[in-house]
Amino acid sequence: MRNLQNKKWLNSKSQSKQMTMFGTHEFPSYEEIIEAYSKEFTNYILPKGDTTFGFWMQTLADLKLLDLELQGLTEGYVIDPINRTVDFEGDDELIRLRIAHLEKVKNKPTLYTEIIDKFGDTNAYAFHNLYPYKGKFYPRVVRTLINAFKLDDTSLLLDPFNGSGTTTHEASLMGIKSVGIDVTPMGVVLSELKNNLLFIEEKDLNFSLSELRDILKVIEGKKWQHSNPTIYKLMLVIYFDTIDAFARTSRYNKKGKLGLFIEKFNYIKDCYKKIKNIKEKYKLDFKPARIIQGDILKLKEFEDIKGAFDVVITSPPYYFSIDYVGKDKIAYDYLGVEMKDVESKYLGMRTNKQLHTSYNNLPLRVAIYYEDLKESIKNIFWALKPGGKLAIIVGDSSVSGKKIPTTAITKKFCEEVGFKFIDLIFNPLLGARNRAIRGESIIICEKP
Ligand SMILES: C[S@@+](CC[C@H](N)C(=O)[O-])C[C@H]1O[C@@H](n2cnc3c(N)ncnc32)[C@H](O)[C@@H]1O
Repeated sequence: MRNLQNKKWLNSKSQSKQMTMFGTHEFPSYEEIIEAYSKEFTNYILPKGDTTFGFWMQTLADLKLLDLELQGLTEGYVIDPINRTVDFEGDDELIRLRIAHLEKVKNKPTLYTEIIDKFGDTNAYAFHNLYPYKGKFYPRVVRTLINAFKLDDTSLLLDPFNGSGTTTHEASLMGIKSVGIDVTPMGVVLSELKNNLLFIEEKDLNFSLSELRDILKVIEGKKWQHSNPTIYKLMLVIYFDTIDAFARTSRYNKKGKLGLFIEKFNYIKDCYKKIKNIKEKYKLDFKPARIIQGDILKLKEFEDIKGAFDVVITSPPYYFSIDYVGKDKIAYDYLGVEMKDVESKYLGMRTNKQLHTSYNNLPLRVAIYYEDLKESIKNIFWALKPGGKLAIIVGDSSVSGKKIPTTAITKKFCEEVGFKFIDLIFNPLLGARNRAIRGESIIICEKP
């Protein structure tokens, strides 16, 4: 009985013409389907409005970062996260030149959009990708913080753990004066290079293939010299990067050492041309940074630094997760620098240190690291002007399976040395390869 009824139903259905999802009785062609989908896509996915989010805005932290920079750059704003648009009051031109999270401002592309379109990457622009330094900042975060803190061409910014110089390089690109300090010679070389490459002449980078071949030979023979210190260091850094690439993978065997050396040199030359082009088009005024090799724990030896800074943007070493110095073994071996000496100056590496506090049964070396971290934050406080801001970026890691609560401890230290806590933004590290670090926190404080 049931079967019969079903059959009846089937028969009656097949007699009436079925309506398609497009409201027609004919099935649409492939082209019609594609067109309909692209309309739907525009409707739902692409932002509608004249001031729109960049496609690189992907996480809730990005939304918070956009919010922060709008606070610094505008007189008032409303963010519409559904339509991915912003409505604001303020100086359109200034915002277009500085903002890091918007693709268009009042229908015109932002400078940041132009930069990442030209370089094809949201991080590896200008000379940020000169060399693969461990634990590098995302330049966009630095740009955001510079905007949030309302820095201009009269301000002074410090990064006392400047590493490969992301803070100082981004500041230079934005026309902000800055000082970068780092204890490692390699970090200092890289920061100086990123800085100096912005100010050399295009002709300084003119080398024929045979000249590059000869340079590689001379470097290998440890006889490399050049009258221009920027070119001297640049060739060495490209050489270290080439050798390191060969040590890590056989992928480049076909290209050969010379092929890779030339490719890397050409990449830098290309970056130079692109950033010069952008500088001229937008009439940008790049500002040189002052790079110092030094120890944050001895910051007070630089008397002229006391109370000199409007802002500090920095990130201490996540010592327990990353082997910063080991990465540069090739460079240090070549230059005859003793890696142990470099390492011994690292935060948390002083073995003869007397502990002043106990840190809830944390391993001794972690406790020593925390004492140094607190001392560093004290010195940062000393270097800032009253009303000066600190953004310190830290991550929690694990030592022998035990979670090390660096974020909470850093916030506590900031308050203990006299800072007023303002905000904490958790930024997940999407696709992070290091399982020990899942994300980082930006802790923002003010010196009263
Ligand atoms: C997380 S990395 C900073 C990376 C940097 N933000 C960048 O984008 O390249 C921490 C840096 O702290 C530096 N460092 C460690 N101990 C230091 C000390 N006592 N004084 C100054 N710098 C130190 C390390 O050399 C390392 O470059």
